[in-house]
Amino acid sequence: MKAAITTTYGGPEVVHFGRIDRPEPGPGEMLVRVGAAGVTTADWRLRAAAFPGAISAVAGRLMFGVFRPRRHVLGSDFAGTVEALGSGAAGFAVGDRVFGFQFGGAHAEYMIVKAGGAVTKTPDSLTDIEAAALPFGGLCALEFLDRFAKLQPGERVLIVGASGGVGAYAVQVARALGAIVTGVASGDSLPLVERLGADHVVDYRKTDPANLTGPYDVVFDTVGALDYASAAPMLARGGRFVPLNFGLGDVWKGRKSGRNGHAQILRVNGDTKEGMERLTSMIAAGQLRPVIDTVYPFDDIREAYAKVETRRRKGAVVLEVGAPVTGG
Ligand SMILES: NC(=O)c1ccc[n+]([C@@H]2O[C@H](COP(=O)([O-])OP(=O)(O)OC[C@H]3O[C@@H](n4cnc5c(N)ncnc54)[C@H](OP(=O)(O)O)[C@@H]3O)[C@@H](O)[C@H]2O)c1
Repeated sequence: MKAAITTTYGGPEVVHFGRIDRPEPGPGEMLVRVGAAGVTTADWRLRAAAFPGAISAVAGRLMFGVFRPRRHVLGSDFAGTVEALGSGAAGFAVGDRVFGFQFGGAHAEYMIVKAGGAVTKTPDSLTDIEAAALPFGGLCALEFLDRFAKLQPGERVLIVGASGGVGAYAVQVARALGAIVTGVASGDSLPLVERLGADHVVDYRKTDPANLTGPYDVVFDTVGALDYASAAPMLARGGRFVPLNFGLGDVWKGRKSGRNGHAQILRVNGDTKEGMERLTSMIAAGQLRPVIDTVYPFDDIREAYAKVETRRRKGAVVLEVGAPVTGG
């Protein structure tokens, strides 16, 4: 089968196409024919060993390959059709349309997916391309705003990077949780952020997010524009500072958060079937929709990576991998 292969760390040019054996599903696994796959900041970081901060750089290489990537086929957001089932792969049948998030493998014509992992049936209302645009940003937004920050109805949340791969979903999730949303992005992204449900918008080119006064109950920074010291003056009592990018230095910077009546939440995303099912319910309820910047043919994966690395995309970047299903 055709796959986008990465055997050395580097720029988009290290990704090349090759043919590898089609994998066989083992117990609890299914073989999925990939219709569409996302290219995310996670794929970029893994391909380039662009792990933020010195400690993360060491930890990242220990986890994912010291001198070269251990995983040769990247791609974690996927949507496609079940082609075969391994023994005990419960809950799915051959021919089911599925979408989800799994570390690596989606940048190929077929991938192995754990049936018990972050995967569920694709709603009929979504094409494969739309479905592949949802898991990375949607799961991350849900996990950080709901599970970690415990955002409550009526609370005020500031989302920095509100039009990006995570931010475009964070605005919708925060709104669905009943929060009052302020979104920060550049001027040309602000109409989108408003359409996604933000009550207030801020252009970071005109106003430095660090100069905002709030007060906010939750500050969710997807960009790395703030640290606890700059977020603290805008946090209400009981406020939570939730950065997506952090290093060891942030543990030190946030050490006084408890004394100030705040919490700094430094966590890593977990991706679950329950999260995928919640996203599906939110889609059915009209609370969540895919946000797609650009769809690229599979052959243009290097261009897709280059787009992600601009850090200026609006929502997801998606690859048309196989013959994506275009309707339910
Ligand atoms: N901790 C975890 O488990 C976890 C999980 C997922 C992701 N992450 C990390 O989270 C980060 C966000 O990912 P992403 O995919 O959302 O990134 P992204 O798509 O590249 O984010 C771009 C967004 O940031 C905005 N932006 C750029 N510069 C800004 C500035 N100076 N001030 C305010 N906003 C600015 C952009 O707005 P304009 O386009 O309008 O300029 C756009 O909305 C990545 O670094 C990723 O590695 C961490």
